[in-house]
Amino acid sequence: MDWEQHYLEEHTPWDKGAAAPPLLEWIEANPDALAGRVLVPGCGLGHDCRALASLTGAEEIVGIDISPEAVKRAGQEEQAGAERYELADLFQLEPEHRQTNDWIWEHTCFCAIEPDMRNAYVEAVYGALKPGGNLLAVFYLDPYDNEHPRGGGPPHGCTLEELEERFVKSGRFEELESYVPKKSYEGREGLERVIRFRRVG
Ligand SMILES: C[S@@+](CC[C@H](N)C(=O)[O-])C[C@H]1O[C@@H](n2cnc3c(N)ncnc32)[C@H](O)[C@@H]1O
Repeated sequence: MDWEQHYLEEHTPWDKGAAAPPLLEWIEANPDALAGRVLVPGCGLGHDCRALASLTGAEEIVGIDISPEAVKRAGQEEQAGAERYELADLFQLEPEHRQTNDWIWEHTCFCAIEPDMRNAYVEAVYGALKPGGNLLAVFYLDPYDNEHPRGGGPPHGCTLEELEERFVKSGRFEELESYVPKKSYEGREGLERVIRFRRVG
């Protein structure tokens, strides 16, 4: 998948022009929880980073993306608070991103990577968090429709069993909460799952 080309051509159907509703719902229910440094992998144009910056007490929000165009455009948006953007590959993080994050916010990065990279994803987010750090995620369990058939390109769906296997049974994370969000982008209602994992050790 050539993400850069999609951003250059402004063909980004995943971008809804606003922060993920399940993130806003979670922040509303947990107004004081998010603090410290937050990493947002696959941040795209930064809508979630700006919501995190304006609505939480996080001291630093770092959105990373492999698309230079996405990072450039995210940085051109009006600053909402302590957010910034970096061109970086989640699978090749620099030392400054290793074990330095209190939280990670995951939204449509896990479903965007190739499924055979999912164990590497678990290792990458585990390694990016401080011991005891939180991975807060909205997983797009079932993105399939006529336009996105199963077995095609991203988004790639997943099951709760797979998530349990990869994150929890691997010994990397424990699960703190898991629910179907009440608020979703139009068309994703009932197809997503919010899960908060905590890094074990
Ligand atoms: C489906 S888009 C979602 C973007 C954003 N989260 C949103 O919802 O608008 C997936 C994003 O992940 C980025 N991405 C893909 N692989 C990545 C990697 N290995 N490291 C960092 N970002 C990556 C892409 O460039 C793209 O911006």
